[in-house]
Amino acid sequence: MAFLSSTRQVFRSSSLLLLFYFVSSSRTWDPIKCSSGNTNCTITNFYGAFPDRSVCRVAEVVYPSTEEELISVVANATASRRKMKVATSTSHSVPKLVCPDGEDGLLISTKYLNRTLKIDGEAMTMTVESGVLLRQIINEATKAKLALVSTPYWWGLTIGGILGTGAHGSTWQGNGSAVHDFVVELRIVSPGGPEDGHVKVRTLNDGDTDFNAAKVSLGVLGVISQVTLKLQPLFKRSIEFKSMNDWDLGDRIANFGRKHEFADITWYPNQRMAVYRIDDRVPMNTSGDGLYDFTPFRSRSSVEVAIIRTKEELLESTGAIEGKCLSAEASVSKLVDGAYGLTNDGKSFEAYPVVGYHNRFQAYGTCLDSLEDPEMISNVCPWDPRVKGHRFFHQTTFSIGLPMAKIFIQDVQELNDLVPKAMCGVELYNGILIRYVKASTAYLGKEEDAVEFDITYYRSKDPKSPRLYEDILEEIEQLALFKYGALPHWGKNRNLAFEGAIERYRNATEFLKVKDVYDPLGLFSSEWTNKVLGLERGLTVDEQGCALEGLCICSNDSHCNPNKGYYCRSGRVYKDARVCRFTAEDICPAEGGGDSCNMAQYHTEL
Ligand SMILES: Cc1cc2nc3c(=O)[nH]c(=O)nc-3n(C[C@H](O)[C@H](O)[C@H](O)COP(=O)(O)OP(=O)(O)OC[C@H]3O[C@@H](n4cnc5c(N)ncnc54)[C@H](O)[C@@H]3O)c2cc1C
Ligand SMILES: *[C@@H]1O[C@H](CO)[C@@H](O)[C@H](O)[C@H]1NC(C)=O
Ligand SMILES: *[C@@H]1O[C@H](CO)[C@@H](O)[C@H](O)[C@H]1NC(C)=O
Ligand SMILES: *[C@@H]1O[C@H](CO)[C@@H](O)[C@H](O)[C@H]1NC(C)=O
Ligand SMILES: *[C@@H]1O[C@H](CO)[C@@H](O)[C@H](O)[C@H]1NC(C)=O
Ligand SMILES: *[C@@H]1O[C@H](CO)[C@@H](O)[C@H](O)[C@H]1NC(C)=O
Ligand SMILES: *[C@@H]1O[C@H](CO)[C@@H](O)[C@H](O)[C@H]1NC(C)=O
Ligand SMILES: *[C@@H]1O[C@H](CO)[C@@H](O)[C@H](O)[C@H]1NC(C)=O
Repeated sequence: MAFLSSTRQVFRSSSLLLLFYFVSSSRTWDPIKCSSGNTNCTITNFYGAFPDRSVCRVAEVVYPSTEEELISVVANATASRRKMKVATSTSHSVPKLVCPDGEDGLLISTKYLNRTLKIDGEAMTMTVESGVLLRQIINEATKAKLALVSTPYWWGLTIGGILGTGAHGSTWQGNGSAVHDFVVELRIVSPGGPEDGHVKVRTLNDGDTDFNAAKVSLGVLGVISQVTLKLQPLFKRSIEFKSMNDWDLGDRIANFGRKHEFADITWYPNQRMAVYRIDDRVPMNTSGDGLYDFTPFRSRSSVEVAIIRTKEELLESTGAIEGKCLSAEASVSKLVDGAYGLTNDGKSFEAYPVVGYHNRFQAYGTCLDSLEDPEMISNVCPWDPRVKGHRFFHQTTFSIGLPMAKIFIQDVQELNDLVPKAMCGVELYNGILIRYVKASTAYLGKEEDAVEFDITYYRSKDPKSPRLYEDILEEIEQLALFKYGALPHWGKNRNLAFEGAIERYRNATEFLKVKDVYDPLGLFSSEWTNKVLGLERGLTVDEQGCALEGLCICSNDSHCNPNKGYYCRSGRVYKDARVCRFTAEDICPAEGGGDSCNMAQYHTEL
């Protein structure tokens, strides 16, 4: 995610004033808030809002700090048939996975299950408790001169949550991109019958068929207590970012992924630019001690964060897409010039390639520390919900198998040509991140070698308020998911993305069989997980304005916002798509959008 160009100078004089206005509270961040002790609680995700903006209430939260305590918690709750869910200290998933049904549910937090249990240098494995952060895994492995090959790019996630949602990095080589494909063993605590004392602890490894269910489980099989990861000897990498015109992106995409072990691509469709990450292993004696401290994941001042959001809201409300395009160009060129935060020696960027140790490149997120900072003045993540003007966005993230990825890219390019500037808003969030994900044996893992597209974009504070050119992003979302059968990332996305998704997993029934054995009463399941797993209907709703937040695909103008000129229309490239399009028939000569029907003009005249 990138940022609007800095307006710091302009606002410097008034920043003290703004500070009081924008900083809402001064507590350290915790997704769980209880009104008395550990009872009467609510839980939210890191963005402070689930896709449907509902509040998740639970009766109680428990913090086991050993596996024994965890076992006793699950046994007790099972005996009283209580609904449970695992909560992490990070709570970074967007969908409402973490919420048990009803209001008398129990949250089992892995916050204090955060120890590294064992590093076996000979076998090159590492055993950790499930609440351990990715950052901690990387650091501990490095001390033993070992490395976990592929990880998500943000280190503020727990290993339990990573496995729960199938989180990944980018590589088609070796065991692939997903962390779950480096797991050699895990222990999971599930409900049991009275004969088992209401709890069952299973140790699963590669030979077990259940292992393929437990590796990516959406949290519905029980609580993973320990995970053993396969590591490799620490190695070095060489990275270079290369900006190119995007006209042949579709043709290049497959070969580029095959050629470079840690390749990814950042795509800026409006700027007709793709930035290729040429990233490979190099011999250990190659000189260089580079560091990747990705600029958008660094901390910034809460004032700056609030100013950026205020500006974005202003551009939205006035329909000033041109302003978004200019800001995006400025912020992207700043990122590219600054090598996205890569440095040759940990201090400054001189030249490509940047060579260094894998552990200093694989993940980042220095702003994470700021969550412990109650002052928050110079030190927040841009999306820190404690800041009133924090970044607030939707994420649409899905993978498309080859060769469909190429055709999908060409469709997006066609759409982008038809409606220039529509994608400027996406570029304000650092464009579309394209990563390589590999087929997995996990039942809910990737079905085939694929390309993952990660799109972040503006979300209004007001659920009924349409977004500029939202029809274009809705069309892209539906194009990917429903025309090309993309698989949505389990830990991201708007609700509609999961519609029918489970049917695209060949082993979904195998997964459900394991679920019935591990948790026959469905104590770890919720309405949401049942819907996602195809066991209940109602993933989408039929309500006024539902399409604006991805809670439905529009089929009726009231699903959009006719009062603001947004009507339900067909897609431009994918005709079967139904999207909310700005169609001011009273002002525009014909439905067509683009320059002939200028939103800014419309907004001004209102
Ligand atoms: C800034 C940022 C960057 C990101 N970068 C990436 C990326 O590069 N690649 C990527 O794939 N994703 C990425 N994500 C998404 C992220 O990987 C997922 O949302 C992640 O799974 C969340 O992990 P968490 O530890 O916060 O788990 P949560 O969101 O709290 O939990 C996720 C699910 O797992 C279950 N669960 C958690 N622990 C356990 C356990 N011990 N036993 C059983 N079930 C459990 C929970 O109940 C829940 O259902 C990013 C997210 C953010 C905010
Ligand atoms: C929990 O909250 C409810 C309503 O907010 C209240 O009636 C109840 O007394 C609270 N319980 C405890 C234990 O605080
Ligand atoms: C489980 O229940 C038993 C008996 O009611 C109780 O003694 C014990 O403290 C409970 N354990 C936990 C972790 O709640
Ligand atoms: C585990 O988490 C607790 C609470 O956040 C923290 O105080 C402690 O230092 C952590 N332990 C390790 C080994 O990181
Ligand atoms: C790949 O995964 C398998 C099974 O999980 C494991 O046995 C093997 O060691 C892994 N290989 C690497 C290089 O991690
Ligand atoms: C690195 O080591 C290899 C053999 O291990 C040697 O052939 C090569 O010359 C070395 N390169 C440098 C830059 O020292
Ligand atoms: C999972 O699906 C694959 C591909 O269809 C199949 O080969 C495999 O046997 C399935 N596994 C199980 C346990 O059914
Ligand atoms: C459109 O949706 C609204 C709200 O869901 C409903 O009241 C109305 O009857 C629908 N109209 C049509 C034509 O389906």
